[in-house]
Amino acid sequence: MAKKLFIKTYGCQMNVYDSARMADVLAPLGYAPADSADGADMVILNTCHIREKASEKVFTELGRLKATKRARQADGANMIIAVAGCVAQAEGAEILRRAPHVDVVLGPQTYHRLPEMVARAFRAGSRRGNGGRGAGVLDTEFPAESKFDHLPETASPQGITAFLTVQEGCDKFCTFCVVPYTRGAEASRSVEDVTAEARRLVGAGAREITLLGQNVNAYHGSAPRIGISASGSAPAEWGLGRLIRHLADIVGLQRIRYTTSHPRDMDDELIEAHGEVPALMPYIHLPVQSGSNRVLAAMNRQHTADDYRRIVDRLRRVRGDLALSSDFIVGHPGESDPDFDATMRLVEDIGFAQAYSFKYSPRPGTPAAAMSGQISESIKSERLDRLQTLLRAQQDRFNRACLGRILPVLFVRAGRHHGQLVGRSPYLQPVQVTAAQALVGTVAEVEIRSTQSNSLTGCLAIDRRQTVMCCGLDADAVELRGARA
Ligand code: 5AD
Ligand code: SF4
Repeated sequence: MAKKLFIKTYGCQMNVYDSARMADVLAPLGYAPADSADGADMVILNTCHIREKASEKVFTELGRLKATKRARQADGANMIIAVAGCVAQAEGAEILRRAPHVDVVLGPQTYHRLPEMVARAFRAGSRRGNGGRGAGVLDTEFPAESKFDHLPETASPQGITAFLTVQEGCDKFCTFCVVPYTRGAEASRSVEDVTAEARRLVGAGAREITLLGQNVNAYHGSAPRIGISASGSAPAEWGLGRLIRHLADIVGLQRIRYTTSHPRDMDDELIEAHGEVPALMPYIHLPVQSGSNRVLAAMNRQHTADDYRRIVDRLRRVRGDLALSSDFIVGHPGESDPDFDATMRLVEDIGFAQAYSFKYSPRPGTPAAAMSGQISESIKSERLDRLQTLLRAQQDRFNRACLGRILPVLFVRAGRHHGQLVGRSPYLQPVQVTAAQALVGTVAEVEIRSTQSNSLTGCLAIDRRQTVMCCGLDADAVELRGARA
């Protein structure tokens, strides 16, 4: 009988991708995905360390799992508890000290070695009996080998929309951020490796792929071997723009996105791709963090607010309907009222379709945590409130501007109500539409009829034309024609 594996994922999309790959690694050992920790043979918490709140959640969950593990052991079974991801990388030994019932602690770069770690946990478990203590296996190295060269080939089917990690790690060292320490140095997968995985995902039903990386537009993967001229004049590495053009040729792949980008790596080739590759969606998550040059310098962002404005202008020049999302931090050490006002001005100038904003959270070991001029919680809360009010108003305005427009929608799954499907607009808004199940996996034109704060509702444009012309075809036939429209 298959063993049950429950993976709980915290944090970013890269962790979502890693969780899927950990399931791939464990499948040959007989582990099949389960929906909850109850009755599971193995539980993995794939953790996030970016802000204090995210880290602390892990210890709360480990407290709960202790009781579940005990109950299972009382029944003569066992449950392996593993902590993976960035908290594991940053606090490995501390986790084993605070939660001795944990069996395995592994960093984001070592999960291809999970089978060995599980075997060691089993051996230790059988030596120790069922005393509730974990096996204490720790592997948070940054190994010389790349995990991507050691993962099983088959990426689990992820559905109509899929994630694909093309780049990992970061060399930018923004002063507030733990990523360069938890994910390690910046590294890219080769074009061939990425293309092979993209083809497998499309073969398994994906129609939209989001290319992932902590600094995805710093991508510089080795170029494919075939096609390099004997003179060797072709570049040895490709950037993200060129990779996207290449992937756009995969038959069946209708949409490409990428996240997360850094303004400094928005090069000409990538900007041009936005004007020339129809599969590349007109929506970019481009974190700016602050609108104040003083704060941007303190953050070591290596760009100014005007650099950001210029990049957005260039993108909008090549793709008029391009929409933006961003990340903001309020209350970075030293942020004054005028600095915060500069952030509000930048937001007014750009106009975001969507955004994430956070109060600065000091992270142990990062330069900003040791800076003078730490800002009080009450000031951070007040600034965050003002910023979020403005960002929400912009999001509402953006959604309302979609009313009456006809947007191409990729249908991804059945909706909550019978006969309803949920799709995605080019701008990543969820769109609910009454449509036949057969449309899942296809793109159809949808007229947007109403907007909610986080989603849109519409009807198939073909249905609307039928209503107007009154030619009385049955609904399913009309919807299938919509799929080809
Ligand atoms: N405090 C608050 N927010 C942070 N982020 C990264 N580090 C911190 C921190 N120490 C935010 C940034 C980043 C996003 C993923 O998380 O805005 O872009
Ligand atoms: Fe963190 Fe800055 Fe790297 Fe983004 S670019 S992952 S914020 S250090």
